[in-house]
Amino acid sequence: METSIPKLYEGLASWWHLLSAPEDYAEEAGFYSELLVAAGDPSPVTLLEIGSGGGNNASYLKKQFDLTLVDRSPGMLEQSRALNPECEHIVGDMRTLRLGCEFDRVFIQDAICYMTTGDDLRAAIETAFVHCRPGGAVLLAPDYVRENFSPSTDCGGEDSRDRALRFLEWTYDPDPTDTSYTVDYAYLLRNADGSMRVEHDRHIEGLFERATWLSIMTDVGFEARGVPFVHSEVDYNLEVFIGHRPKDS
Ligand SMILES: C[S@@+](CC[C@H](N)C(=O)[O-])C[C@H]1O[C@@H](n2cnc3c(N)ncnc32)[C@H](O)[C@@H]1O
Repeated sequence: METSIPKLYEGLASWWHLLSAPEDYAEEAGFYSELLVAAGDPSPVTLLEIGSGGGNNASYLKKQFDLTLVDRSPGMLEQSRALNPECEHIVGDMRTLRLGCEFDRVFIQDAICYMTTGDDLRAAIETAFVHCRPGGAVLLAPDYVRENFSPSTDCGGEDSRDRALRFLEWTYDPDPTDTSYTVDYAYLLRNADGSMRVEHDRHIEGLFERATWLSIMTDVGFEARGVPFVHSEVDYNLEVFIGHRPKDS
């Protein structure tokens, strides 16, 4: 199913690093890196990150892995290329991507949240499987599963030399019976000449029970398990999923 693409990943992509700064990713990227290394055969070298966006995680993961970065948004890849010029960048959709090669590890972080139906989630997990070599592993890190979702608000933003952004983020679930929730953003965008623009951006994101994650991953061929997400700024239960691709698969 085609879902609408948030403005942030189209016309507003050049503002990404003022909304979400690479410096804020050091701790979580360290957590992902350790899990990825431990999840499959020893000494992994190659890592495919799908939905890598502006390359914030990648800016840390590239120290550990030989990284290939895929995203649906050319504008987001352009931001990532500026931060990670040594990595290969490829435009692709996680539901249909077929690069014709396998990697030691595959990682999809928050971008997996844009899978809002069971069919889309399955397609993305199949993509992860076909790009993971036997004996390797994937790490899927959704923002929420149904069981740990709760409504929230957040705000933030950054200044650069010539521009500045501030945002309000409002997360809620208008229909608890379906497989999505809503994140509304208000962005205040200040240009170099001091002019200010306001944008509203709606992100529709997927919400599935943990049993659904585990059953799709198992159906697709992984040995799947949930792992608690550990971060000093997160004092509630979040979970990520590891899928090990058996050697004989
Ligand atoms: C929050 S951003 C990812 C940021 C990234 N974690 C980082 O470290 O900078 C989410 C990304 O998911 C991408 N995305 C959404 N749907 C996608 C799809 N079907 N295939 C590939 N990428 C997708 C968007 O283009 C966007 O760049």
